Amino acid sequence: MMFRAMRAVLSAARSGAGGRAGSSSRFLSGSSSDSRRLAGKVAVITGAASGIGRVTAAEFVRSGARVVLADVQDDLGRAAAAELGGPDTACYTRCDVTDEAQVAAAVDLAVARHGRLDVMFNNAGTLGGRYVAAPIESMDMADFDRVLAVNLRGVAAGIKHAARAMAPHGQGCILCTSSTSGALAGSAPHAYSVSKTAVVGMVRSAAAELAARGVRVNAISPYAIATPMGARAVREMLGLPPGGASEDEEEVLRRVFEEDFNEMGGGVVLGAEDIARAAVFLASDDARCITGHNLMVDGGFSVAKPLNVPAS
Ligand SMILES: NC(=O)c1ccc[n+]([C@@H]2O[C@H](COP(=O)([O-])OP(=O)(O)OC[C@H]3O[C@@H](n4cnc5c(N)ncnc54)[C@H](O)[C@@H]3O)[C@@H](O)[C@H]2O)c1
Repeated sequence: MMFRAMRAVLSAARSGAGGRAGSSSRFLSGSSSDSRRLAGKVAVITGAASGIGRVTAAEFVRSGARVVLADVQDDLGRAAAAELGGPDTACYTRCDVTDEAQVAAAVDLAVARHGRLDVMFNNAGTLGGRYVAAPIESMDMADFDRVLAVNLRGVAAGIKHAARAMAPHGQGCILCTSSTSGALAGSAPHAYSVSKTAVVGMVRSAAAELAARGVRVNAISPYAIATPMGARAVREMLGLPPGGASEDEEEVLRRVFEEDFNEMGGGVVLGAEDIARAAVFLASDDARCITGHNLMVDGGFSVAKPLNVPAS
């Protein structure tokens, strides 16, 4: 029986109707070579007025998606949406992710405007009050609650309401921004670090439930990137005052991100566009079997810790 089936496959391959070459070329066409990988998809991106979210919104639109940009920085958010081609392609809505009703409303806006929701990118985040944290004995518990409210509870609300819109249709992709500081302790304040670890836990928990209902849930963990948030962290680490940077300070910040932090050679520097491209991949049908994953986009930062070899 098996032998007959194999003979049928071989003869189909010889006649050019199937077989290895035929099926692999069919597989490749319309796959990752397609520059409009998100054509027809509708996305909500939180934290889209700035940094990673803003760059991802642009990359999504370039890839054929229509995007609802959600944030609390209204002027920046409106300007970003306008740059992306106006209301049919991109619109802005105010959405504080600590308020579940506002998260629900952003999802409902996407569905009302475009008839569907395919991608929810829970990306809004905060560092908290101080980047260079005080010792744990004097940890500010109100700040701890605020950071968790944005970085974890906001993500949980985004997953909840995206699932509400996606699961009945048996499809959808939810992405959540974690961080290398969720995987490696010691590079960020406790509240931030813990919140980013917990994002990965939330992603895995939701993915476990939602896979059977056709909804994928993944995390993306960036390493340090020179966004407004990244720049603020470095300014605090270096003891620079907040606010606009002089040319000298700009040069110091550039060197920190491009040289001191950078793990990659060949002139490659991690940027928001690398996170955006990872998000496009995970949101596309090319990643249709990837769920519950935490994609580190860190140029190798998290894969090695050099030995402290004693000086001879
Ligand atoms: N830049 C980095 O080095 C880095 C590294 C790892 C992870 N991340 C994460 O990437 C995500 C994006 O950060 P970014 O670097 O683009 O910083 P960013 O400051 O440029 O953008 C963050 C955006 O989130 C918005 N936001 C903050 N609180 C919000 C709330 N309650 N509701 C809605 N929006 C809110 C801000 O207004 C801002 O537009 C964050 O989750 C951050 O933790 C950043």
